[in-house]
Amino acid sequence: MNSNSVHQLAFIAGFKLLAEHVLMNNEAYYPGLEGVIAGETEISTVDGGLIYRGYPIEELAEKSTFLEVAFLLLNNKLPNQEFLADFQSILSESAVVPEPVLNFLTEIPLHSSGMDSLRTGIGALAHFDSQVDESTKDANLAKAVRLLAQIPILIANRYRITKGMKTVPPNPELSFAANILYMITGKDPSALHEKAMDVSLILYAEHEFNASTFTARVITSTMSDMHSAITGAVGALKGPLHGGANERVLEVLQEVGTADNAEAWVRDAFAEKRRIMGFGHRVYKEGDPRAVILRKYCQELAEETGNQEMEKIADTIEELVRSEKGLPPNLDWPSARLYYYLGLDVELYTPLFVASRIVGWAAHVIEQAENNRLIRPRSRYTGMEKQPYKIMSDR
Ligand code: ACO
Repeated sequence: MNSNSVHQLAFIAGFKLLAEHVLMNNEAYYPGLEGVIAGETEISTVDGGLIYRGYPIEELAEKSTFLEVAFLLLNNKLPNQEFLADFQSILSESAVVPEPVLNFLTEIPLHSSGMDSLRTGIGALAHFDSQVDESTKDANLAKAVRLLAQIPILIANRYRITKGMKTVPPNPELSFAANILYMITGKDPSALHEKAMDVSLILYAEHEFNASTFTARVITSTMSDMHSAITGAVGALKGPLHGGANERVLEVLQEVGTADNAEAWVRDAFAEKRRIMGFGHRVYKEGDPRAVILRKYCQELAEETGNQEMEKIADTIEELVRSEKGLPPNLDWPSARLYYYLGLDVELYTPLFVASRIVGWAAHVIEQAENNRLIRPRSRYTGMEKQPYKIMSDR
């Protein structure tokens, strides 16, 4: 096939970026897999806004709870009252972490990060899950629900252990969002705090083929198991270019300190060519719709908690990064300060992303397992030509 026909084929297949990228031996190469369609999914799309199973996130954030959204993502339909009550009660029954795993959380060195202990904790849960190696749809759904119930306990317990506080068991009377706040802080949250946490969980729940979800799908494609896929996904999410950004965002807002310092801080960052965490996105070049939704809750909470100065810092940085670099904020930009206004410590932010994204990851694991083909791309070799082998005495 000559180079011309490769271009025609690629155009028909919708690979818009092909012409901009390198063709070597008639093979297209896209650094970072940018623009590559690497699989099919029915779970969500970012085309025309973020849509979960056919429902725009704007509507879900306003009208649903996180549990309804979790049910939707896992079961492909919104639950009626009866299904939701069943789901809630299975989740409450599943909110049990085996004693050895709980003990293990106390034995990890205190300096280990929340994401590291969570990754190991999820790996440890696998040893106690009787269905660990079953990959039928029912077994995967059951494991997903167990993980959804257990992960907040891992997060909250580990956090309280590192602070020298007694752990707080889940309260089955509370909503998923309220329970997370309750287990972390030991206090019942207000209605506004519960709603803000719930909306953040909805917005973090799913995002098609992002790096961590793709990791989970790659692991699943080898016919490995749900816990392995989720453990790998947590590792991918931890990086500051992905979920780890929300923790760095708060560090920036605190480092800047006052709105008066914000412009100088941004100009320094530009001059030193530093990446500003919480801005830019591989797919959303015009703006992340999730950030728009969460900003409203930031403003409300800032007002309630007397954090208007942090809102001003955020607005100044946002305006400058957008106008001078053309980079709009992503979800991690508002979520960091939202969690701060909720009284949560920074080391919890990326783990809280996991508490929500477990649902999206699990839905992708199930989808991949149901229609599997090993994910195994090729690389372009840039190493040495064939070399004559040198025996030890000649090297
Ligand atoms: N700050 C400063 N410059 C940036 C930023 C940023 N946040 N994001 C992109 N750029 C610049 C890059 O330096 C690069 O400039 P150059 O062409 O002059 O070298 C250009 O924009 C393109 O950057 P890439 O990294 O190639 O773009 P990509 O699409 O791969 O980036 C990413 C996406 C990784 C999210 C990037 O925007 C980034 O690093 N953002 C900060 C980290 C972050 O907020 N991550 C959270 C992602 S959303 C989520 O996980 C919920």
